[in-house]
Amino acid sequence: MTGFSEPAGEPPQNRQRAVPPFDYVIFGGTGDLTFRKLLPSLYSTFRDGLIDPSSRIIGASRSPLSSESYRARVAEALSRHLAPADVDDVSRQAFLEQISYVEVNALADDGWDRLSAALGDSDRVRVFYLATSPDIFNPICRQLKSAGLITDKSRVVLEKPIGHDLATARQINHGVGEVFAEQAIFRIDHYLGKESVQNLLALRFANALFDPLWNSRYIEHIQITVAETVGVEGRGGYYDHAGALRDMVQNHLLQVLCLVTMEPPSQLATESVRDEKLKILHALGPIAREDVLNRTVRGQYRAGAIGGQPVSGYLEEPGIQPDSDTETFVSLKTEIHNWRWAGMPIYLRTGKRLATKTSEIVVHFRAVPHSIFPGYGTQEMLPNKLVIRVQPNEGVNLHLMTKEPGPGGLRLREAVLNLSFLDTFKQRFPDAYERLLLDVVRGQPTLFMRRDEVEAAWNWIEPILDGWQEFNVRPKPYVSGTWGPSASVGMIERDFRSWHDEICPDR
Ligand code: BG6
Repeated sequence: MTGFSEPAGEPPQNRQRAVPPFDYVIFGGTGDLTFRKLLPSLYSTFRDGLIDPSSRIIGASRSPLSSESYRARVAEALSRHLAPADVDDVSRQAFLEQISYVEVNALADDGWDRLSAALGDSDRVRVFYLATSPDIFNPICRQLKSAGLITDKSRVVLEKPIGHDLATARQINHGVGEVFAEQAIFRIDHYLGKESVQNLLALRFANALFDPLWNSRYIEHIQITVAETVGVEGRGGYYDHAGALRDMVQNHLLQVLCLVTMEPPSQLATESVRDEKLKILHALGPIAREDVLNRTVRGQYRAGAIGGQPVSGYLEEPGIQPDSDTETFVSLKTEIHNWRWAGMPIYLRTGKRLATKTSEIVVHFRAVPHSIFPGYGTQEMLPNKLVIRVQPNEGVNLHLMTKEPGPGGLRLREAVLNLSFLDTFKQRFPDAYERLLLDVVRGQPTLFMRRDEVEAAWNWIEPILDGWQEFNVRPKPYVSGTWGPSASVGMIERDFRSWHDEICPDR
């Protein structure tokens, strides 16, 4: 059953607003993220008429390149990373005319005068997007300051990871904070820009239905899974020093967990939302070093097949140390120590080269207290389950017990109420970066992380990293195209529960 019909007219607060002309400087201008996500997203918003054609986008990096050859690379990236139907020649040409390139060395005095000349003395909003390694966030900020490039309308965007641990995150936050005011610092977590992640706020706080049940009295446990089929995709140099816990859990999974479990903010204002998320991060039950063996599982993919195609193992990927013990999979069990959630487990799981690309939140409700149906004990009745599909096929499924149609007795069967956002709204789902890149220009930081959130997340992650080291917890191998090491299944089954994919393998 399809749940809801399309509302008449689009609510005004949902309409995307065009932004005034701006200058966007992207450090790491020749990097993978810039070509794969940032420029395609800026192009899509340009094509949607949200960017004024007089805006300027400046790619900055150490590579010696002319603006002309940079534009050729951007054109190629748009063709490669966007669907043909989402690109047209006229708008692509107009977009490329906004783009230029400046060679800048963040660690030397080289190129800052060129950048200054390129920016001129315009008083537009000026965004410095640091899509570089976090080690050079502070040097770039210092150079921007000494080159006199920071205006009253300047903002800086910090791409994740913000540091490698709590100490480096603090150093970065401190260094950037010496140059930019906190409200001018946008720490990006692109999961917060995903439509369905924002929809969590709508689901929870624009419907009276769920809130009375949204606690450990009615919810038995929650699972959050972010599964990818891709491997490290040429990012071995970065990934091998990070691993799944730092790359995905410290930021994306914890942010999603916060939105699922936080108290209702009093208003949808930046600090109200961030304050509530922070309370969850502070209330997360610590996984002490000695608990890592029972409550976490590390894995590393081996060769296997994805979609019927053979793929190589992690250790054979370019840029990976042949004896690397970096995890490409992690699952763990935590809980939140507050009144709403006391005693209710939350399972997190993420990995590369898994069976399916899917990100979802599964809320398992408690069973009915007593069965009135002859022949059915409460054990036979499947408890309700709310599945929030973050991607792909964004939507919500509610699993309900129903009567099987027909005479001859009352037989119960599970049926699923399915709300597909794509079918309901019939419009393109923008990439998360599209919304976030323009929110920076708008000066709207609600969907970005505040300094204390990042540090609280590291504070929770660090004992896990320490425990893995102290107890020499090496990642367990898993075959590409599966759901990770069997120990991950074992961890949840010890609690007499199963991962959602075990119960619904072909969703
Ligand atoms: C990034 C990670 O932040 O998120 C990548 O660094 C990961 O390793 C990516 O592949 C996943 O994002 P998405 O939007 O494809 O789920």
